[in-house]
Amino acid sequence: MKNAKYYLEKAQKEKFGIGQFNFSDFSQLRGIINKCAELKSPVILGTSEGESKFVGLQEAVAIRDVLRKKTGLPIFLNLDHGKSLEYLKQAIDAGYDMVHFDGSKLPLEENIKITKEVVKYAKRHGVTVEGEVGRIGTDSSKLYTEKFEIKEEDLTKPEDAKRFLKETKADLLAVSIGNFHGIEISGIDPNLRLEVLRAIKDEVGNALFVLHGGSGTPSDDIKEAIQLGVVKININTELRLAFSGNVRRALNNHVEEIVPYKYLTDAIYSVEKLVGLKIDIFGSANKA
Ligand code: G3H
Ligand code: ZN
Repeated sequence: MKNAKYYLEKAQKEKFGIGQFNFSDFSQLRGIINKCAELKSPVILGTSEGESKFVGLQEAVAIRDVLRKKTGLPIFLNLDHGKSLEYLKQAIDAGYDMVHFDGSKLPLEENIKITKEVVKYAKRHGVTVEGEVGRIGTDSSKLYTEKFEIKEEDLTKPEDAKRFLKETKADLLAVSIGNFHGIEISGIDPNLRLEVLRAIKDEVGNALFVLHGGSGTPSDDIKEAIQLGVVKININTELRLAFSGNVRRALNNHVEEIVPYKYLTDAIYSVEKLVGLKIDIFGSANKA
């Protein structure tokens, strides 16, 4: 099977996006893979540090292997928002395909220094590295009742992005362009600042960009961002909401039901449906 970088470059050439869908439970994973297999879409499975500790690094790799074998799909595993070199090394040693070092809260100098070390270690193992410049706020378990304000100084500065990519040689760059983790209560987040992405692209050229905080982002903005070089879109909050909401409803509506494979059916279906909608926006069907 071709590696993650191959599919990400294919996405860049053919102008589609690959969904990174986060999971921490096998039923969520089932929903994600069922739909990707049906639509023949490549997929990146994301686990944050917290999610990966719950699932287990080796367990996640073993499940990926079984699902790849069973479906023949290009399924890749990414350690999302890794905060330390040590933990990313553990993920690489366990067999993850990709790692994301999130040094965005560090001074740029420090971010570059650690990302370089991650790249050095990852390259020896054929692992793809995502770095991050600019700050992407908040977290993927939040529903915002008030408008989420993005500070101008948190947006990715084109010159920082250029320096970061030149010095670290990271494969992918996560950018802050008005995106944020979590979702506004209306279900729709404010528009992306696509002019910021254009300015970054003008400065760095044809890099592989990542859009975090994909939940709630207007579809047309995502499509436009893909045209400008975004190849990976991360989705978590919407999946968590769909899955948890359905489990809660099923248990409340059938208080006597204790069989997990019965009360989880609707939740799995809701994940399938959501992943199908996202694949449609990203244009990744039949790209496996
Ligand atoms: O890294 C994961 C994501 O960026 C997910 O963001 O929870 O807003 O979809 P989200
Ligand atoms: Zn993220």
